[in-house]
Amino acid sequence: MSLATDRECLARAFALARRVHPRATSPNPRVGCVLVKGGRIIGEGAHLGYGQPHAEPVALARAGARAQGATAFITMEPCAPFPGKRNPSCAKALADAGVSRVVCAALDPNPKVAGRGLALLRRAGAKTVRLPEFQTDAEELNRGFYSRMRRGRPWVILKAALSLDGRAAAANGKSRWVTGQAARAAVHRMRAELDAILVGSGTVLKDNPALTAHGAGRNPLRVVLAGRRPLPRRARVFDASAPTVVYRARTSAALRAALQDLARRGVGTLLVEGGPTIHAAFLRAGLVDEARVFLAPKLLSGALDPNAAPKIKTPRVARLGEDWLITGVLS
Ligand SMILES: NC(=O)c1ccc[n+]([C@@H]2O[C@H](COP(=O)([O-])OP(=O)(O)OC[C@H]3O[C@@H](n4cnc5c(N)ncnc54)[C@H](OP(=O)(O)O)[C@@H]3O)[C@@H](O)[C@H]2O)c1
Repeated sequence: MSLATDRECLARAFALARRVHPRATSPNPRVGCVLVKGGRIIGEGAHLGYGQPHAEPVALARAGARAQGATAFITMEPCAPFPGKRNPSCAKALADAGVSRVVCAALDPNPKVAGRGLALLRRAGAKTVRLPEFQTDAEELNRGFYSRMRRGRPWVILKAALSLDGRAAAANGKSRWVTGQAARAAVHRMRAELDAILVGSGTVLKDNPALTAHGAGRNPLRVVLAGRRPLPRRARVFDASAPTVVYRARTSAALRAALQDLARRGVGTLLVEGGPTIHAAFLRAGLVDEARVFLAPKLLSGALDPNAAPKIKTPRVARLGEDWLITGVLS
């Protein structure tokens, strides 16, 4: 296959990396690499899973001796050697193979690398180029890795399933189910793509959730924020299906410390599922990076059972400036 421009080649490296499941390489980043010579791809690959070869050696193995004089397109700077590193250095592997030009989207945010991979290649005589227009793609591809390396805490996603009138549960606290089956299946897939999932003790006591991916993939680490009320030992969140950690973090500073501890455990992405008290605590502390809100066409105020709440059968949705208007006759 022939590729014309640097941008096309780097975009292909991103396509390879995006095909890898978001959690497969965690706590490592997802990386793709394409080796091009004379306008043709001579080798390409991605880091497919934690403990497996990095993208660059995969592409180099496919190219063999043809790598001499080739250009490498990589979604992130190749790693440099540092004390305690487990994998061989990819920058050195590229240099040893005689790659003469390296084009990458971003520097490695790991302070132990941060430019040293490209410097090693330049010392070996290779030309290095960064295409800054791909910086955002690089960060979006590995939200958790960037957050952990730059801020020492995970990328925090607030997830809520709400009724149209903004309620997370019916009047008696019942939240099974606010949303329908398709939304719940999407949540299970989401859990499998993220490193950890967090709830407050109120949700454990009220819902007794298992907080697993329900077969949609690998279970995330489960995190519970304990309060004054004791947590039942036999709660499903403490079953054997996945590990669970419990923090006492009543203040914003303690929440930050809990997030730092999670990052040290390799957690790059954290789904904060609620309930509303915990959502408020995270928002107050300024610790939410992204929101994923499911909106059910129901009105839960006053309803005792979310499954029997008044519902709009055929909702019409309009965008009004920055707001949404949802209208419809109740059934
Ligand atoms: N629709 C949804 O997306 C969704 C998701 C989850 C839950 N829910 C529903 O939400 C309800 C539970 O929500 P909730 O607001 O009562 O409970 P919650 O947010 O799950 O937990 C709040 C409790 O966590 C403890 N806590 C620990 N650290 C805290 C901190 N830093 N700040 C505040 N509290 C802290 C406190 O326990 P103590 O009071 O013991 O000190 C507090 O009462 C249930 O009805 C559940 O069904 C809905």
